[in-house]
Amino acid sequence: MIVRIPATSANLGPGFDSLGLALCLYNDFIVKPSILQSIKIKGEGEKIPKLIKDNNFIKIFKEIYTSLSGEESNFSFYLKNNIPISRGLGSSSAVIVGAIVCAYEILKIPYTKDVILQKALKYEKHPDNITPACIGGFNTTMIKNNRVFYTKTKIPPDIKAVIVIPNKPISTKYSRKTLPKQISLNDAIFNISRSSMISSIFAQKKWNLLKFASEDKIHQDKRMSLLPILFNVKKEAIKNGALMSVLSGSGSTFLNICYKNDASKLALALSKKFYDFRVLELDFDNNGISIL
Ligand code: HSE
Repeated sequence: MIVRIPATSANLGPGFDSLGLALCLYNDFIVKPSILQSIKIKGEGEKIPKLIKDNNFIKIFKEIYTSLSGEESNFSFYLKNNIPISRGLGSSSAVIVGAIVCAYEILKIPYTKDVILQKALKYEKHPDNITPACIGGFNTTMIKNNRVFYTKTKIPPDIKAVIVIPNKPISTKYSRKTLPKQISLNDAIFNISRSSMISSIFAQKKWNLLKFASEDKIHQDKRMSLLPILFNVKKEAIKNGALMSVLSGSGSTFLNICYKNDASKLALALSKKFYDFRVLELDFDNNGISIL
């Protein structure tokens, strides 16, 4: 059994801690009962010794396994990571969601994606990555009484993502600390109107409005100034046909959305200009958790 969880992109500009979507880029997790505990990581993070010694997937899996079964056991863990770490593509959410699903699967306890999502909130306090990681598509999310409430809109294949992944990470924790604790009423109105607009654009597929709706006054510029070349990435992406170009989560990845037919041209232009960075052309995932 392989548990597959998609990469995700949160905020979409103005929808800070609220909007998110899933991408066709996946981490695969395989857990098997074993006499001794072992871990093997392939792909992203395989060269980071801390991930072997002190692995969050194992911690969360064991906590959930023990809380569900009342028992402790040993397992072998095989993590096949395709989602870059600390790049704003939801790698921590994939680990959290994957670990919880693996515990339910190995114990053969029936679950829904909603059950997994509500459990995941304990480990990640903002719902805009964990929700698309669980259910896929484009999500508008909120938290009330310690529960995630959400809507999902399927993303059709006429648009694609072209993501630009810098070689430097941006720490979510650090970059959140740099944000102002208070914002003006005008800035709040600016973001509320655009964030609401993005939700209805995805529902009504009015993609040509994305460019205007994806502006933000709460977090993006502050975070981008931690890696100023990102301002050029945005400019180039819009110049080369992106419908919108925003920081993915807390960065450092940039998420560009464009019409399917413009994706290769946009990807080529961005990889020529930013040859140190990885540029990927991706479809959107409408599934979230899948079991292979
Ligand atoms: N909404 C969160 C943030 C996502 O922007 O900090 C972090 O992955």
